[in-house]
Amino acid sequence: MKSIQVNLGHRSYPIHVKSGLMQQMDSMLSDYNHGQKWVIISQYNLMELFGFDLMNQLKEGGYNIDFITLPVGEAAKSMNEFSRVVSQMVELNCDRSSTILALGGGVVGDVAGFVASSFMRGIEYFQIPTTLLAMVDSAIGGKTGINIAEGKNLVGSIYQPKGVFVDPNILDSLPKEEVIAGLGEVIKYGAIWDQDFLNDTAKWMENLDTFPYEDAIARSCEIKAEVVSKDEHEGDLRRILNFGHTIGHALESHLGYGKIRHGEAVALGMKCAGYISQKLGLLMKKEQSTLVETINRLPLPELRHINGNHLMPYIKTDKKSEKGVLSFVVLDGLGNATTSIDVTADLIQESLKVLY
Ligand SMILES: NC(=O)c1ccc[n+]([C@@H]2O[C@H](COP(=O)([O-])OP(=O)(O)OC[C@H]3O[C@@H](n4cnc5c(N)ncnc54)[C@H](O)[C@@H]3O)[C@@H](O)[C@H]2O)c1
Ligand SMILES: [Zn+2]
Repeated sequence: MKSIQVNLGHRSYPIHVKSGLMQQMDSMLSDYNHGQKWVIISQYNLMELFGFDLMNQLKEGGYNIDFITLPVGEAAKSMNEFSRVVSQMVELNCDRSSTILALGGGVVGDVAGFVASSFMRGIEYFQIPTTLLAMVDSAIGGKTGINIAEGKNLVGSIYQPKGVFVDPNILDSLPKEEVIAGLGEVIKYGAIWDQDFLNDTAKWMENLDTFPYEDAIARSCEIKAEVVSKDEHEGDLRRILNFGHTIGHALESHLGYGKIRHGEAVALGMKCAGYISQKLGLLMKKEQSTLVETINRLPLPELRHINGNHLMPYIKTDKKSEKGVLSFVVLDGLGNATTSIDVTADLIQESLKVLY
């Protein structure tokens, strides 16, 4: 088993990565079981796939455990669903000592984490991510949140879990497109932090059937853990995790949620950001091609022509644009990200041509 530590003083926690870990949750959690109520927050399809087995395993181990389900899709990240889950927790006689297990992708993790951060002013929770995106990204770092009509993730908190349990075997049932979207974030880690890892990922992607998920997940988690340990509250360092995200988010908003997956949009956004980095003289042409060739190994959705003017309003309102200055994440060499305030609207527009 690979165990990676997120170092945040008394709020530090481990990320365990191991195939077959789901069958060992009883012993993995036993130190935390002191007779309190446990609640799995998940989605019904995931309860059928893994949740009921997990619940039976823990019941047999003497845990007092129940479950609550959320709907599938971004709609689950709503004030209504949040409030419904909290009410159900009360009905289940949860109290300050109760513990949540967030079993699902980023949607479940974000809502369950937010419930954990606010129920009775905060209770303990663990993340058990079931999508590749959640395993390498959303389950780590403590960002929780829900959406309101005015925008995505506008209500939330930074509230760290007590631990993250990653069982790559869980990916066997994940639709291929969701796996591909997660790989977009894996490529991101190599691009911003570790050129060797980027090269490995490119090689591994030559045949997705033999892709070593366990190794790739563990390295991605190490990188995210290192960044979050140094900068929990998104100062300059944590911001580099947003590489590819400014244009990625704009594509998601412009095309409409559900039309393109987050990781796919990020992959496309990274191609543009690579172009911008090269134009700023920070990335060599050869390095830019390596990045683009790696991303092109992902079967990404074909885009119809996008008018850059339609994307710009989203880019300007991206929350990374502070005090009117757009701080854009660029690569200063492969494996090394930084932020730049020299990225003009014209350059962003120009970069969109790499998408076709
Ligand atoms: N908190 C953070 O730091 C952070 C970071 C990135 C993204 N996010 C959030 O994550 C969300 C996206 O998460 P996601 O991409 O994991 O999508 P998701 O949670 O919607 O999951 C995608 C779909 O796959 C299904 N599914 C999940 N695991 C499965 C499995 N093993 N087998 C079969 N089906 C499975 C789910 O039921 C769902 O229908 C967004 O809301 C985004 O804002 C949060
Ligand atoms: Zn992302």
